[in-house]
Amino acid sequence: MKVWEKSRYKDEYEKELEYIETILRKNVDDFVGRYPHVSVNNRYRAEENVLWTSSFFVGMCFLAYEHSGDELFLKYEKEHLKSFEDRLVNRQGISHDLGFLYTLSCVADYKVTGNPEGDRIAYKAAQLLAQRYNEKGKYIQAWGEMGAAYPNVKIIIDTMLNLPLLYWTGEPDMIEIAKNHAITASATLVRPDYSTYHTYLMDPDTGRAVCGKTHQGHRDESTWARGQGWAVYGYALSYRYTEEPVFLEVAQKTAEVFIKNLPKNLVPYWDFDFTDQNPDIRDTSAASIFVCGLLELCNDVAEEKATEYLALAEEIMKSLREQYSTRGLKDSNGILTEGMYHRYDGQEECTIWGDYFYMEALMTLTRNRRLYW
Ligand code: GLY
Repeated sequence: MKVWEKSRYKDEYEKELEYIETILRKNVDDFVGRYPHVSVNNRYRAEENVLWTSSFFVGMCFLAYEHSGDELFLKYEKEHLKSFEDRLVNRQGISHDLGFLYTLSCVADYKVTGNPEGDRIAYKAAQLLAQRYNEKGKYIQAWGEMGAAYPNVKIIIDTMLNLPLLYWTGEPDMIEIAKNHAITASATLVRPDYSTYHTYLMDPDTGRAVCGKTHQGHRDESTWARGQGWAVYGYALSYRYTEEPVFLEVAQKTAEVFIKNLPKNLVPYWDFDFTDQNPDIRDTSAASIFVCGLLELCNDVAEEKATEYLALAEEIMKSLREQYSTRGLKDSNGILTEGMYHRYDGQEECTIWGDYFYMEALMTLTRNRRLYW
């Protein structure tokens, strides 16, 4: 299904995109080489380009340029590229998150403006990401130096969104790595009931998968809402690139788990241990990632199912728009309130990735466009 043809609230989405652009216009000069991450009192500060989140603001500028054609959003294109190239050269904050980082900065630049520098830097990042692959275990190590010993080696569900950088290269070796990682994750991080672990311990010497653990969830055996969102969107994207039916099956079944755990207002609590009967803090970013996953799945399933997914995605967007907007918060430079980073760090705040995925969803709901992933 072509969601932009069938979506019902295009006027509302266009108003939201215009609102986002008024915020971004004010932010453009503030985040150059230093980027938003998680807000404090709903206001982002500029943080060094060393975090996993540094690219989301740049990605939003490309979306805003695509939407408005306003060159203001490309004003710092060169400076952003330089910052991301410096980060690669200096090996700052290098982890599996190379995918998030270089897809939304460099691949997006290449796709939107055709700038070959974006292509060149993104390819270097993809090569570095591929070096995190453990051949014995067929997985990409999430964090830490390569060569670290058990029990310091983990795979994590978030990596599913880093795989598109490898697929995008079109190189058989890189595609194989991405595909193998997705298969390993589906047998470990994805539980038999299609809920997910956040992380899984791996023995790098033997490649053996040891056990599931959490890092940002409530407990090892619970389901961290954002992680489940990463699984839905990540497997849907792996299906887009590989057409492996098993990836579509995992995306749909993890989506079913997400749907079952949605509270009444359709914005999940940060972990599925929490419900309307036993409430806690919400995570709007998990909701916006999940919407992007549902919209991607609409391309892949029969019309009837796609209609269901689109209707739900639009209801979630309504809830985000009506209940979690920064409209009316005079000092905010973010878009969505009540995101959650970590149970010990950044709660009920704007998150730059939540804002990015919300804006991406608005673009997907209103026009025929190429994803940056
Ligand atoms: N990828 C890190 C997070 O979702 O918090």
